[in-house]
Amino acid sequence: MPETVLVTGGAGYIGSHACKALATAGYRPVALDNLSTGWRDAVKFGPLVQADLMDRAALDAAFAEYRPVAVMHFAALSQVGEAMSEPGRYWRNNVAGSLNLIEAAVAADCLDFVFSSTCATYGDRDGEILDEETPQAPLNAYGAS
Ligand SMILES: NC(=O)c1ccc[n+]([C@@H]2O[C@H](COP(=O)([O-])OP(=O)(O)OC[C@H]3O[C@@H](n4cnc5c(N)ncnc54)[C@H](O)[C@@H]3O)[C@@H](O)[C@H]2O)c1
Repeated sequence: MPETVLVTGGAGYIGSHACKALATAGYRPVALDNLSTGWRDAVKFGPLVQADLMDRAALDAAFAEYRPVAVMHFAALSQVGEAMSEPGRYWRNNVAGSLNLIEAAVAADCLDFVFSSTCATYGDRDGEILDEETPQAPLNAYGAS
């Protein structure tokens, strides 16, 4: 049986491609997604757990059932305009949701974790080359969360 990787946001744009790459590399990707902006049809390379990051019991059940060796975390709200008009929703979903996921992963002793960030953490730096040392200066709740 191939090793399993839990891919949150696995029904979304980046997460579904991560699932494809994981399957090509010989892993079994398990997509965990609430389908708020994702597509069931994009989950082609392993099972879909339809669940929300805010549902800790569902996260615990997914870790218990699939025993992933790692988590790749792509489940987030990521629209800048929406983040300006509904910042609370972004903080709740992206920060509280990630915290829930991290706590569930630690409880399941699944400690290899990839977090999908965004260059929106750097704010408006047109023309500059950005790297990990570039100071973080987000301009909205998407980049900040
Ligand atoms: N698309 C890009 O160009 C880009 C660039 C930089 C960073 N990113 C980052 O990659 C990640 C994924 O972005 P994307 O473009 O694939 O977006 P997307 O909207 O296509 O995918 C996000 C997925 O997460 C799911 N989701 C959101 N909140 C959830 C929750 N609480 N519980 C369960 N599932 C939830 C959605 O249903 C969706 O399928 C985000 O963290 C984003 O910041 C994307």
